[in-house]
Amino acid sequence: MSVTAKTPPQTFHVKSFGCQMNVYDGERMAELMAAEGLVSTADADAADLVVLNTCHIREKATEKVYSDIGRLRKRARERGSDAPMIAVAGCVAQAEGEEIVRRAKVDVVVGPQSYHNLPGLVARAASGEAALDTDMPLASKFAHLPARRRVGASAFLTVQEGCDKFCTYCVVPYTRGAEVSRPYAAILDEARALVDAGAREITLLGQNVNAWSDDGRGLHDLILALDRLPGLARIRYTTSHPNDMAQGLIEAHRDVESLMPFLHLPVQAGSDRVLRAMNRAHTVDGYLHLLDRVRAVRPDIALSGDFIVGFPGETEAEFAETLRLVDRVGYAQAFSFKYSPRPGTPAADLAAAVPAEVMDERLQRLQAALNRDQAAFNAASVGRRCAVLIERRGKLPGQWLGKSPWLQSVHLVGDHKIGDLVEVTLAAAGPNSLTGVATLRDAA
Ligand code: SAH
Ligand code: SF4
Ligand code: F3S
Repeated sequence: MSVTAKTPPQTFHVKSFGCQMNVYDGERMAELMAAEGLVSTADADAADLVVLNTCHIREKATEKVYSDIGRLRKRARERGSDAPMIAVAGCVAQAEGEEIVRRAKVDVVVGPQSYHNLPGLVARAASGEAALDTDMPLASKFAHLPARRRVGASAFLTVQEGCDKFCTYCVVPYTRGAEVSRPYAAILDEARALVDAGAREITLLGQNVNAWSDDGRGLHDLILALDRLPGLARIRYTTSHPNDMAQGLIEAHRDVESLMPFLHLPVQAGSDRVLRAMNRAHTVDGYLHLLDRVRAVRPDIALSGDFIVGFPGETEAEFAETLRLVDRVGYAQAFSFKYSPRPGTPAADLAAAVPAEVMDERLQRLQAALNRDQAAFNAASVGRRCAVLIERRGKLPGQWLGKSPWLQSVHLVGDHKIGDLVEVTLAAAGPNSLTGVATLRDAA
């Protein structure tokens, strides 16, 4: 692939697209390159090496990679400098491999299960050799990554990767591979390192995080162990699949104080016919019954979901069932997408595509309903007392931004610092955030 030798890079920039797991992987790649002596730069245009950590979930996400590569090179040309070395990582790298090299002549291609090899690949590219690695080795990349060092107040920790569910629209089982759980002890070690590095909240990540298991232990056992970790105040987890929601995990929402009252549980559609065509392996009633069980043990839980509109063959009546489901659940927040046919997935071969303008219109109606419910959830929170975990400074002087237990963004003013848990009364609500007034400082 790259034929001419290049100067080995001294500075790098990692840009992550897509889901939280990509954010986590991006942090780990940055730590890896820093351990090799490269210096991180916040400005992609100033970096000798740019790692584009890509997402393949929808066509738009994939196309973004190619426009980004074009932009980076154009700006280098305008400055009269050499184009940076470009490494494409993440799910597009896995899915398209050689195709990216052909189409965009990038220097390095590395998949999500082999990025521990990034330093070696960069060295190979610098010497003018082909540098592509999309293997899914049996031995885990995690054993080859340097220890965690500095993180924010809220940190991600991947505990499970891959997916065996094969929803008919989805590329993840192909880009991330089969479901694999990281070992219990390795996760606890990393959690301890994250707390030592400043984390007060850990979000456990997995494509099907609630399918995590190790030696008879389930996700709730892991949560119980993390609950006992000194210095860790909050635990979250995402994304869960309805069919892996064990009773023990539901009960953890009642029994474990540090487990936050928030559940992201995608349902995708409100019609059993569409769910079957999606191979979701659950029904609408099954999903609603599950939410009843969670709400029974944790009445204040904030619910979140993902939706796809315009799956092939979706009728107006079937879409109306999605709206009805939304009305019944009352989500605190949710994500919704237009169906995007993905190469290699079974749904991509289905006829009966829903016309683009119908999809647009359905998405608008769905988002109006979801926005209405989110605003209602926020408005109903006004007057609540809760702790806010401060994550960063706000835009105004003296202002801070943090999260409520229900994952709402909360602005507050005062003498705080990142990592503080501040007792507040939620005083005012906007559609996307709330204002909190401090009532009592904790001793932290
Ligand atoms: N593992 C998670 C999420 C995977 S991807 C889960 O099963 O819930 C995140 C979301 O992207 C999905 O929940 C789905 O709503 C959306 N998505 C996945 N493939 C898509 C496609 N081909 N077109 C549109 N949206 C898609
Ligand atoms: Fe994709 Fe379905 Fe797996 Fe989620 S459960 S990652 S939507 S195949
Ligand atoms: Fe995208 Fe891969 Fe995540 S396709 S959503 S980056 S698992």
